[in-house]
Amino acid sequence: MTTAQTAQFHPDGRLRHLLTLEGVPRQTLLHLLDRAGQIRDAAVGRVSRREVLAGTAVCTLFFEPSTRTRSSFQLAAMRLGADVLNFDASTSSTRKGETARDTLKNLEAMGVRGFIVRHPDDGAVAALAAEAGEGTALVNAGDGRNAHPTQGLLDMLTLRQAKGADFSKLKVLIVGDVKHSRVARSDLHALRTLGAGEIRVCGPAELLPGDEVTAGCIVGHDLDAMLEGVDAVMMLRLQRERMEEGLVPSLEAYHARYGLTTQRLRRAAPDAAVLHPGTINRGVEMTDEVADGPQSWVLRQVANGVAVRMAVLEHLLG
Ligand code: CP
Repeated sequence: MTTAQTAQFHPDGRLRHLLTLEGVPRQTLLHLLDRAGQIRDAAVGRVSRREVLAGTAVCTLFFEPSTRTRSSFQLAAMRLGADVLNFDASTSSTRKGETARDTLKNLEAMGVRGFIVRHPDDGAVAALAAEAGEGTALVNAGDGRNAHPTQGLLDMLTLRQAKGADFSKLKVLIVGDVKHSRVARSDLHALRTLGAGEIRVCGPAELLPGDEVTAGCIVGHDLDAMLEGVDAVMMLRLQRERMEEGLVPSLEAYHARYGLTTQRLRRAAPDAAVLHPGTINRGVEMTDEVADGPQSWVLRQVANGVAVRMAVLEHLLG
């Protein structure tokens, strides 16, 4: 096990932080997914807020932009009754050179006990977790290309809603920029742990990672062939901010080979679910017809994000 994997557990096996889905036991994943399923109505505001985290201060500490993750964590914490602080790196003392560690320790000194952290560097959230005091919990909201565990969980919850809880016969295809994707890594960890029947990974050779990421997957470059008969298609955003120049010659050429269109989607199982973590580059990773079409689960992923994040915060801090 890596340091991040071991550091996220208490000695008795309970989660102390959530840094990665790698090494999280199946039983823990199922517990979080079941709990998120139970509290979905509360998550989307159809029932009144709960007070599980009343008196607990939680901070979203983001050193990279976000719409979905940050907002849904904020809503999740508020719906659990927490006091929520939103740290904006662009208007903070980060601009004066304060380190992420010092920022965390200062906020911790003010009584913040839950930190939701996004950072551009692989391993940065685990490094911060190692500095946290007893009783402080960190959730990785995405570090570099390494991990985005709550996205992995919300994707699994969405697959369960779309296809049922038994993943053993499920054929899942992950498409696009897997190399730079923390979402893909977290999805792969969760799909393996939950026993997905077949995992396929497709993209241009220069955007696919090595065997250490795709071990056990069927890997290919021909999207039409890889789509045949799959039950779910997980499209990925092109992570251009993490790419070297020239990896994708043109967006038009990428779309022609790897864009999901209505016509292409017909190769998948008739009721195949289409997922995308956002931000969607419309007309690049998928057409509007697919993104907004009857097989799209994209907005249900977003709604599930609030429920999953409530379940995680409740588990770590409740
Ligand atoms: N899926 C996801 O991480 O979206 P944001 O970057 O908007 O948080």
